[in-house]
Amino acid sequence: MNCLQKSATKTYAAVRAAQLAGKSIGLVPTMGALHEGHLSLVEASLAECDHTVVSIFVNPTQFGPSEDLASYPHVLEQDLRLLEERGCWLVFAPQADEMYQPGHGTYVDVGSVAVPYEGASRPTHFRGVATVVLKLFQIIPADRAYFGRKDYQQTLVIRKMVSDLNLPVEVRVCPIIREADGLAMSSRNAYLNAEERQRASLLWQSLKLAEQMHAKGQTEVAVIARSMRELLATDELEAEYIAFLAEDTVQEVTHLEGPTVVALAAQVGKTRLIDNHTIG
Ligand code: PAJ
Repeated sequence: MNCLQKSATKTYAAVRAAQLAGKSIGLVPTMGALHEGHLSLVEASLAECDHTVVSIFVNPTQFGPSEDLASYPHVLEQDLRLLEERGCWLVFAPQADEMYQPGHGTYVDVGSVAVPYEGASRPTHFRGVATVVLKLFQIIPADRAYFGRKDYQQTLVIRKMVSDLNLPVEVRVCPIIREADGLAMSSRNAYLNAEERQRASLLWQSLKLAEQMHAKGQTEVAVIARSMRELLATDELEAEYIAFLAEDTVQEVTHLEGPTVVALAAQVGKTRLIDNHTIG
């Protein structure tokens, strides 16, 4: 039976009491509108930790002024039901003023890993993510915290913050969970109409194409990226970026040698989607 908690102080007290009683704590930070991607992180935590805490907070500081903060889905009752079914121990779902008091002025900037790609497109995004995740780590001093590979650059930002600030938490990164047609699960998929939803599966098809070309011996990134763009264009999709990155970095490669993360972002209608896949 999970317990909804809106107070940061009470959440901290409950977590510390459990830890003093010898229980290990897993934290799964989310913005709610939970799907199987989120729930896979919950399952990973349940498997490794005595108690699993899920935070649900649509964090205003990671949204740009023209982004979807106001329309981001809120379905707390449904989320609580799903988490209760899975056996989550505590849900921390604060109001905005519990997390950011008037005059809040401290932000976490992790440096260069937050600058390109998602950082270039959304200049204050990772500052907001790092800040809220550090705050969550303070309120819920978990032994382990679980993040999805879906947000590849976000995982690098979190790992960098944890390393630079000596945070006593183990970061776990879990695989991407996909729909039957390969579209990466995302709370934002709910914005897609039927026609957009169908076109969105091309993102995954283009990542698979990269994998297939590499398997057939193509190692020139420019050639693969061109074919990916051509495939996307068959349904009038245009990638904002397609990046080939050395595993665990934001360093671009031009020839495929070791494990390479192919990351992309594309606008489908009004919805901006991201995905990635590791090849090689
Ligand atoms: P949100 O988008 O709700 O995602 C919460 C966690 O679920 C993230 O670690 C994300 O990578 C993971 N996730 C989302 N879709 C997934 C999928 N299809 N497969 C596997 N994991 C998936 O990411 C955030 O919230 C926020 O930035 C947050 C870290 C909570 C800070 O506000």
